[in-house]
Amino acid sequence: MFPDSLIVEFDRGLRTLFASATSARSHPDAGLTETELSDAERRHALGLMRVNHCGEVCAQALYQGQALTARNPAAREALRHAAFEEVEHLAWTEKRIRELGGRTSVFNPLWYTGSLAIGVAAGVLGDKWNLGFLRETEHQVGAHLDSHLQKLPLQDEKSRAIVAQMRDDELKHADMAEAHGAARLPLPVRAMMKLSAKVMTGTSYYV
Ligand SMILES: [Fe+2]
Ligand SMILES: [Fe+2]
Repeated sequence: MFPDSLIVEFDRGLRTLFASATSARSHPDAGLTETELSDAERRHALGLMRVNHCGEVCAQALYQGQALTARNPAAREALRHAAFEEVEHLAWTEKRIRELGGRTSVFNPLWYTGSLAIGVAAGVLGDKWNLGFLRETEHQVGAHLDSHLQKLPLQDEKSRAIVAQMRDDELKHADMAEAHGAARLPLPVRAMMKLSAKVMTGTSYYV
């Protein structure tokens, strides 16, 4: 069973990094028209959306790593459901980056590999830590998306609609992990997660 899941996850990984993602739900910005942005505003929105796309690539890797090692079927299902919505987030941010005239981060394969290793490590510790890791990740991502809603140009309604829906989804994922028995991670682990997210966001804003 394990080698089979490994192949499935490997295939999913290649698609995350090299193929365009698709969304079952309609894109949150679908009904909104493009508004006028200055060059500086467009570049800023592009940098922020590139960071968000990179975060979604990491979420995919994390959940893949965790799904490989989760023991309890309910925990595996929770991870799979979250991962499915993360693919939609990938599709929304990827399209928005193109509309803003940019491309996704060149560092994505690097962050993907690191997140996959972290996901496998969290999974090996057991389901309650696995889910605890998921919950903490989602809380941190939710807070980070909230900060982007403060930073995005007010008139960039399309990017804002995407980020707002992603934030709501991430908080739902956190609640789901909680409902499945997530443990609270120790403070040093939470601090380390915040620090690595800072390095990732700092670099993918630019390239
Ligand atoms: Fe997400
Ligand atoms: Fe999520």
